Amino acid sequence: MTKHARTEEPTVAQALGIDIGGSGIKGAIVDVTTGEFVGERHRIATPQPATPQAVAETVAEIVAHFGWTGPVGITVPAVVRHRIVRSAANIDASWIGVDSQQLFGSVLQGVRFSVLNDADAAGLAEVACGDPTAARGPVIFLTLGTGIGSAFLLNGQLFPNTELGHLRVGKHEAEHIASSAVREREGLSYKKWAKQLDKVLAEYTALFNPEAFIIGGGISRKFDKWCGYLDSPVPVVPAQLRNRAGIVGAALAVSQDLHP
Ligand code: BGC
Repeated sequence: MTKHARTEEPTVAQALGIDIGGSGIKGAIVDVTTGEFVGERHRIATPQPATPQAVAETVAEIVAHFGWTGPVGITVPAVVRHRIVRSAANIDASWIGVDSQQLFGSVLQGVRFSVLNDADAAGLAEVACGDPTAARGPVIFLTLGTGIGSAFLLNGQLFPNTELGHLRVGKHEAEHIASSAVREREGLSYKKWAKQLDKVLAEYTALFNPEAFIIGGGISRKFDKWCGYLDSPVPVVPAQLRNRAGIVGAALAVSQDLHP
């Protein structure tokens, strides 16, 4: 080696984020300092039935696709407390009681990983790399997809495992009237659907009085089509990370060794 040989570039802190959803399991390598994807996202359809074992094997396939041996963050659409999955609203009932460390540890031998709720991950990603509103004061982050996921954030700190999608609004659970899946399933116009979302936000406001709602999930990309129908006195803003948030949040969680 000569005196002037180039030293190697410092390694960028990266983690593989994997977001488990009802229809797809998506992963990407994330630069955890910027929240940017490094390369392409890879998606595999969620196996049906989405049993824990079948889903864990798909997660391992995604890890293998990237040839990745570094840390892996995984989100699930469920409550995860002390590493145990405690709910199963839109996933197979057999998830309840599953030890997430044992499950994913059996297919990801020797890999460092963490597992957390999908909305919590997305909320944390928004705090770190998204709209500055997410990091200030008491705000509620909502992800509207198959269900409604929520993350309570106070000055960027997470109160994990809130489940606002299951709060009753009138006769129904919030996610049964205002998730984005409901709009598609029932063929609702943006106006009709936004009015239902408005009722949900009014209920959340009455109970929690946040300073803002931040809306993530695929439908946040169409924010301009429906935000005009909301009457919420509390500001409603679209998440900046849109549907990348789950993957980015998963990667951030494992890089911070977060295990809610
Ligand atoms: C689940 C939540 C999840 C949300 C979004 C709800 O049905 O109970 O844990 O965050 O869906 O996937």
